[in-house]
Amino acid sequence: MTSMPNISFAKFASPKKGTAIVFAGEGASLGEAAAACDPGKAFVRAFPVAEFSGKSGSTVEVLAPEGSSLERLVAVGAGKVAELDDYAWLKLGGTIAAQFRKASEVTVVADLPGSEVSAAQAASLAAGMLLRSYSFEKYKTRKDDGNGKETPAKPVKVTIQCADPAAAKKAFADAQAVAEGVVLARDLVNEPANVLGPVEFAGHAKELEKLGVKVEVLTEKEMKKLGMGALLGVAQGSARPPRLVVMQWNGGKSKDKPVAFVGKGVVFDSGGVSIKPASGMEDMKGDMGGAAAVTGLMHALAARKAKVNAVGIIGCVENMVDGNAQRPGDIVTSMSGQTIEVLNTDAEGRLVLADALWYCNDRFQPKFMVDLATLTGAVIVALGHGHAGLFSNNDELAERLAAAGATTQEKLWRLPLGKDYDKLIDSKNADMKNIGGRHGGSITAAQFLQRFVKDTPWAHLDIAGTAMGSPTNEINQSWGSGFGVRLLDQLVRDNYEG
Ligand code: BES
Ligand code: MN
Ligand code: ZN
Repeated sequence: MTSMPNISFAKFASPKKGTAIVFAGEGASLGEAAAACDPGKAFVRAFPVAEFSGKSGSTVEVLAPEGSSLERLVAVGAGKVAELDDYAWLKLGGTIAAQFRKASEVTVVADLPGSEVSAAQAASLAAGMLLRSYSFEKYKTRKDDGNGKETPAKPVKVTIQCADPAAAKKAFADAQAVAEGVVLARDLVNEPANVLGPVEFAGHAKELEKLGVKVEVLTEKEMKKLGMGALLGVAQGSARPPRLVVMQWNGGKSKDKPVAFVGKGVVFDSGGVSIKPASGMEDMKGDMGGAAAVTGLMHALAARKAKVNAVGIIGCVENMVDGNAQRPGDIVTSMSGQTIEVLNTDAEGRLVLADALWYCNDRFQPKFMVDLATLTGAVIVALGHGHAGLFSNNDELAERLAAAGATTQEKLWRLPLGKDYDKLIDSKNADMKNIGGRHGGSITAAQFLQRFVKDTPWAHLDIAGTAMGSPTNEINQSWGSGFGVRLLDQLVRDNYEG
């Protein structure tokens, strides 16, 4: 597995071993503690030679001079110190982690010219290091170190020196809980479908019980009893039975209505009988990115003991081609009683969510529901990899989500819903069909979901372009990004706690 850095916090002192990392502000200026750090002089000489100006994200590395007990010195540009928001600190942590290389011991002097690094900022810095260090390596049996030697990956020991280490440690417990949630989501998305079926996915969710989450796993039999014909229709072509997982974190007041999150958990989407082209089909192991985000979020909320009642529901199924698979033209009855004509078996995510959303609303009467799903290729056509599509029947919820996304830089772009779009999924033979026309595919998919939420405030996030295969950045180098975990944690933090 990935070897994550082992992070602790300490008071300022001249680093003695391994790699020392300091920040530089604009004009390559160092803070007091950084300037005092031995042997800072080697550094200051290197700045003009390296044309280092302290620009955000830039770095300079020098070997420690003779006589020093250190090995390396690295300066990381922080840019305009006054403009550093929480995400900037996360990114700085990522930039620093990229400099770890093969170091076994690293000391980060978290000090800036003219401004003290707060405990929360030091904690974000540390969380950024964790997120950047993640890589999915569990199936790499050769750990080639470049010299032909096999070296077991040892976690790097990182000490972050800052003004108030005790407060930073406390703040980091919270930030780490969220980072772990992101890592869990990434692991689930990256895991291949032969290993991660619906039952296995439910097993991972079950592990959240250790954190105090109540986890129920509904089997096929129970779903049949509930009348979940839409979800079960998708699952019937797979040799592996479906699971519906209900996670509850009760950290709020006992009579407070819960907030609810619902995830599409298609562990593999072959398209079914409306089969997908072979090229790129392997990416459909990530078609459970919504369920992964919900599971990662529940981990984060429980691990940081969020003061909120939250429900997480994931529909785990596999969409396969088989003698028993559902056919185009089949009509299924959803738990809501509404009938659906399945015109394309590849529009399966909405069928899974239809029953998961209905069940969630029916059982919990939540304050709101947010669903996450790698639902349509069309959202990638519309928004690329830079934004997830946001659809909502409630402006306040939509605005809160967009604001949380701006904070965590998991950006959302709202797209419309409306009667004229809704009409496009009326069916001749049933209450609705599972595809609209050729155009506005992400919108008709969202209209479909809306038919299963009644008047409950609801938002749908189409994360097909952001959950996997998006460009790597300072805090993510992995195919599965864990998109949505930090976003929804922020939503809860900003609006629904206490
Ligand atoms: N899981 C796919 C959507 C998807 C595509 C996710 C690419 C990530 C990357 C979804 O189940 C699907 O197949 N959607 C169809 C809908 C169509 C049949 C109406 C699509 O987008 O083509
Ligand atoms: Mn599909
Ligand atoms: Zn799908």
